[in-house]
Amino acid sequence: MKTVMIIGASSGIGKACALKFAELGFRCILTARRIELLEEIRSKYLPDALIRKMDLCRQEEAISIFKELCKDAGSIDIVLISSGTGHVNKDLDWQLEKDTIDLNVSGFTAIADAAANYFIERQAGHLAAISSVAALKGHGDSPAYGASKSYQSIYLQSLRHKFLMLKLPVCVTEIQPGFVDTAMAKGPGLFWVASPEKAAAQIVHAIVKKKKHIYVSRRWKLVAWILKILPESIYFKISS
Ligand SMILES: NC(=O)c1ccc[n+]([C@@H]2O[C@H](COP(=O)([O-])OP(=O)(O)OC[C@H]3O[C@@H](n4cnc5c(N)ncnc54)[C@H](OP(=O)(O)O)[C@@H]3O)[C@@H](O)[C@H]2O)c1
Repeated sequence: MKTVMIIGASSGIGKACALKFAELGFRCILTARRIELLEEIRSKYLPDALIRKMDLCRQEEAISIFKELCKDAGSIDIVLISSGTGHVNKDLDWQLEKDTIDLNVSGFTAIADAAANYFIERQAGHLAAISSVAALKGHGDSPAYGASKSYQSIYLQSLRHKFLMLKLPVCVTEIQPGFVDTAMAKGPGLFWVASPEKAAAQIVHAIVKKKKHIYVSRRWKLVAWILKILPESIYFKISS
């Protein structure tokens, strides 16, 4: 039986992915800060799941919890990082930007590296993480969110390069959702909003197929393509 660890599994996309992986016969290890929600998931749906409280903004503690879980689990085949946050921050409030950077940059790096080192030691494995289409262009209402997702995208690419240089069969999957109907999808102007279940089905399928990258839902590939070629002046006009 294969084992997947999902970081940020208490709600939204991470929770939906846990249920989907379990449906496919995976053993699940679930982490997040809201342990009561993980307990509810375990009691309602996944009696065999191993759950642990983990706060990625306490990086040293998160790394040691990760190592303990690796020992307790015996072996882990896939680590999926879903934890993330973001704020509409029109006033450039430092606390809101810091909150995003602490989790999406520092916390993400701590756990991605812990997983990468674990897979290097095992000489195999699969790291997947949820970035965002927001990584492709900056937005004046949420600078830290887009910049942090861009950081995650390049970091994942760097780890993929590292595994290639080490000649190790470790996969890296980058997931770039558009809008998914969760607590994170805030504000007006949302479109092509996928349900967490639909997003999870596409994400888990891509991971099982060992794809390097996917947009979720798939039609966001079109938006991504437009964002990449659009001159900044036109992008600013339509996104203001
Ligand atoms: N929804 C969208 O439209 C959308 C679009 C593009 C990308 N994404 C990305 O998808 C990922 C999942 O978000 P979601 O939409 O599923 O929203 P969500 O329901 O709010 O899920 C966020 C997850 O992150 C965890 N988390 C928050 N702070 C944490 C911390 N300090 N340490 C560890 N875990 C923490 C939360 O668990 P606890 O609070 O229990 O710790 C929760 O499980 C995020 O990375 C987000 O940026 C979402």
